[in-house]
Amino acid sequence: MKKELTIGLFGFGCVGKGLYDVLEQTELINANIKHIVVKDKSKKREIDASNFSFDPNVILEDDEVNTVVELIDDADAAYHIVVKALKRGKNVVSANKKLIANHLEELIKTARENQVSFLYEAAVCASIPIIRTLEEYYNTDSISKVEGICNGTTNYIFSQTDNGKSYAEALQEAQDLGFAESDPTLDVDGFDAKYKLSILIKHAFGLTVDPDQIFNYGIRHVKNQDVQFGKEKNFRLKLISNVIRDKNQLIPVVAPHFVKEDHPTYNVNDSFNAVAVKGLFSDQQTLVGRGAGAFPTASAVLSDISALQFDYKYEYRKEIVASSLSITDNYNINVYIGSTSAQELAAVRFEKTSEEYHGNDYHYKTGFVSLSTLKDINFNDRESLFLAVLPENNKGTLDKNDQTVIAEKTEI
Ligand SMILES: NC(=O)c1ccc[n+]([C@@H]2O[C@H](COP(=O)([O-])OP(=O)(O)OC[C@H]3O[C@@H](n4cnc5c(N)ncnc54)[C@H](OP(=O)(O)O)[C@@H]3O)[C@@H](O)[C@H]2O)c1
Repeated sequence: MKKELTIGLFGFGCVGKGLYDVLEQTELINANIKHIVVKDKSKKREIDASNFSFDPNVILEDDEVNTVVELIDDADAAYHIVVKALKRGKNVVSANKKLIANHLEELIKTARENQVSFLYEAAVCASIPIIRTLEEYYNTDSISKVEGICNGTTNYIFSQTDNGKSYAEALQEAQDLGFAESDPTLDVDGFDAKYKLSILIKHAFGLTVDPDQIFNYGIRHVKNQDVQFGKEKNFRLKLISNVIRDKNQLIPVVAPHFVKEDHPTYNVNDSFNAVAVKGLFSDQQTLVGRGAGAFPTASAVLSDISALQFDYKYEYRKEIVASSLSITDNYNINVYIGSTSAQELAAVRFEKTSEEYHGNDYHYKTGFVSLSTLKDINFNDRESLFLAVLPENNKGTLDKNDQTVIAEKTEI
């Protein structure tokens, strides 16, 4: 039986207004918005001012509201709203990846204790239904790898640098088009992609990972020479969120990757997102779609609301096998590191070097560097360096320290 949903909506920005419009346009859902709570009393709204309140308790203390939809841009305020809503026995839908990644275990526990649902499909790759796919379709398959483009802003910028624009020009264009925030740090330094990866890991492997455990390096320091290096080899640059399972260890990495034509994300350009999942039985499948924007994001929120009509809850079925899993840094990764400073490049410890180039004002090395070495270097703050993971060769991109490595041979 479909339940009737009475919604309290927090936020009326890009996604909140998108959801309002989507709910107006669909007849397929038995849900109505009773209250909308926003923050700024002076802001001009696109619908009548009488629709808005500014006190969270208008929603949280209304017993008629059985569904809280949290679509605000402040992760700390969202935390208090979501916890209180769950404790008051309300189902919650959220799109806030930072909140979810940083508090996932507590939020799952609170939802379970209060026998309510906490759903967040929109938080990872917006319109791509990856969370529910991992939960339902892959609940019995053993997953060996999840990788994808989980941030549209950086993919848009890399698509433009591939077309010959500088990083600064591409960022400005992304900001003018509304893809990138005026402070784009969370996107361009790979934090947003890392929050999403930690959520994906929970659903793919059952393990809760503190985002601080995940290496994240963004795209801010890419230079024309780095793009040129890739072009000469027919590689494209993508900011990839990647987790590989090796026996009982998981190796999560967020970093630019040079990808070859056979990679599932090679043709995923502009602000599109993609997630590829590799299972023991299913092999590899890729979902591609819009990872941001009012309607694509609202469509995922709508799908969660619709699922609540049938009392849907995430089961986190992989949790039962997660106790044997752990995160490791004890891996060597096949990387390219370009630099405007020979000295700074020389200071990076390579376990094995496969190629080295020194020009007047530009240098690079390729080869294997341990993940723990990469973590120790704060690459996001090292302007002269640019790091990108190289395409998989026949021994894989990642290699155990104790194995012999056949590094990919590239020509200078
Ligand atoms: N935009 C996307 O494409 C996208 C995609 C996936 C996920 N998300 C996630 O969706 C959420 C919303 O993003 P958005 O792009 O819609 O943000 P946005 O356009 O900046 O809108 C934010 C809204 O939150 C409200 N707000 C902020 N703090 C509040 C508080 N303490 N109490 C009540 N309302 C508050 C703002 O109120 P005022 O209107 O009064 O300022 C505004 O309406 C974020 O978690 C974001 O990460 C966004």
